[in-house]
Amino acid sequence: MTSADFVPDTRSLRTLRQAARDCRGCPLWEDATQTVFGEGPRKARLMLVGEQPGDEEDLEGEPFVGPAGRVLDDALRAAGISRGEVYLTNAVKHFKWRARGRRRLHQTPRAGEIEACRPWLEAELEAIKPVGLVALGATAGRALFGPGVRVGQDRGRLLESPLAPLAALTLHPSAVLRLHDHNEREGAMAALVEDLRMVAVGVADR
Ligand code: URA
Repeated sequence: MTSADFVPDTRSLRTLRQAARDCRGCPLWEDATQTVFGEGPRKARLMLVGEQPGDEEDLEGEPFVGPAGRVLDDALRAAGISRGEVYLTNAVKHFKWRARGRRRLHQTPRAGEIEACRPWLEAELEAIKPVGLVALGATAGRALFGPGVRVGQDRGRLLESPLAPLAALTLHPSAVLRLHDHNEREGAMAALVEDLRMVAVGVADR
């Protein structure tokens, strides 16, 4: 099963978002509070794709509003990008988690779950037609650019992609958060900012 059966034949973001609420294209909806669809203006020239909503996103129904979102906000600001101008979404639209005590621990979505959710991502790409497209982390990278991409080897440069004139893969903001060593964290943040700026400058030039 995939979400294709649930994606309406329209590129209206509002209609897509509404339809996505009832998606049963994979079993992840069962344990999630709600679908977290993408957010941002239809005219956005830059689109960022994360992995999947986290705990706070699941509760609030919006992408990147939790701790990773705060890192992303800092990175966007440092790169001179206004969040309000960006379309932000995730490769998978439901929070996948397992319980540890009272906590809900993030679980990486499986390839089949990413595949099942792809029709929503494709519909968003068709609606937005971004000039710049940035995958945040390995899951989004694989969803957008295929299984061969690696953050370590492919970040820091533009990638060839039929999905957007300027495409790139960079670190996920959670990867920055996970680093406890101050210098490592600063370095990872600098890399994220550099990659976002590289694409934003290219977008501004077009
Ligand atoms: N991590 C993601 O990949 N996406 C979100 O929306 C939040 C955290």
